[in-house]
Amino acid sequence: MEVLSRLDQIVKEAAQEIKSASSLNDADNLRIKYLGRKSELTSILKNLGKLEPDLRPKVGKASNEVKRKIEQLLVEKNETLADQIFTHIGQSERIDITQPGDVRERGHLHPITQMRIEIEDIFTSIGFTIATGPEVETDYYNFEALNIPPDHPARDIQDTIWTEDGNLLRTHTSCVQIRTMEKFKPPIRVIAPGRVFRYEETDASHEHTFYQVEGLMVDRGISVANLIAVMKTMLRAVFHREVKVRLRPGYFPFVEPGFELDINCLLCGGTGCPACKNSGWNELLGCGMVHPNVLRAGDIDPEEYSGFAFGMGLDRLVMMKYGIGDIRLFHSAELRFLEQF
Ligand code: FA5
Repeated sequence: MEVLSRLDQIVKEAAQEIKSASSLNDADNLRIKYLGRKSELTSILKNLGKLEPDLRPKVGKASNEVKRKIEQLLVEKNETLADQIFTHIGQSERIDITQPGDVRERGHLHPITQMRIEIEDIFTSIGFTIATGPEVETDYYNFEALNIPPDHPARDIQDTIWTEDGNLLRTHTSCVQIRTMEKFKPPIRVIAPGRVFRYEETDASHEHTFYQVEGLMVDRGISVANLIAVMKTMLRAVFHREVKVRLRPGYFPFVEPGFELDINCLLCGGTGCPACKNSGWNELLGCGMVHPNVLRAGDIDPEEYSGFAFGMGLDRLVMMKYGIGDIRLFHSAELRFLEQF
């Protein structure tokens, strides 16, 4: 009977210790202590044969119950401890899949670049191709071939940045007119977007470095009507509505007649506002019919062919489209401005 009460005690001791085990490791050590090969319980079972015959089945049965009970307690304890561990991991490493993800900031194209691409798309869709020319030009392409000889007063109109070797930073994209005519013969339909430079002070509508888009169309029978039609087609596509234009006489030695093309102020609709200096109109580009001397410089016979050309301020076009009041914002470090586009 002593053995039976000892078995009762073993269960109580084991239950006590298992209850206070605080780790899976503790629980495993208790399993070894109470159920292992060297445990008291194992030795009782091993020595069953030495007991009184009528006691053997009772002690055998009680020992197995003790074993089952301790195993049961250990399983429950392990489950509780594992639950605690997973709950802890779950809380410290919880992922809320409903939270918005980390936003990676992506850059985008500058509004002037966006507009350049838009203009290129519009013109290529009506049969124009895209030409380019160098930003550092010779006097010949920037002035002389464009009917502006060395002593011509028109050279004063465009303040020029000269290089030490007698070349210059092109003051307009019109140089590409000559370069194109040297390479291709009529029918010619090209646009030439690019950066131009002028030695001038900046203000709300003037930059020293800005962008133009040159246009040139040369063929038999080209007239001012073709020029106006192409300009209106472009403006309708850029502004997504009919835009009123007006031509004023303008002087450029490489066109005759020459015009300044104004568009109806899109901010006030033509009634007058600060953006259009209360005139209701905004100057957008210079244009005209290609001067016979320029056609000759491009080795094209002015008796047979005629053409129109235009030079548009790309920065100014973006300003009109989005109602931007100061050209200097385009190249400022004010990212909040650029992030709007
Ligand atoms: C020219 O540059 C001529 N080459 C345009 C031309 C081409 C006339 C073909 C006839 C035939 P102008 O200097 O006006 O012209 O400049 C053309 C356009 O560039 C202007 O209408 C304006 O939109 C823009 N522009 C001129 N100066 C500046 C400046 N400092 N900053 C920003 N835009 C300018």
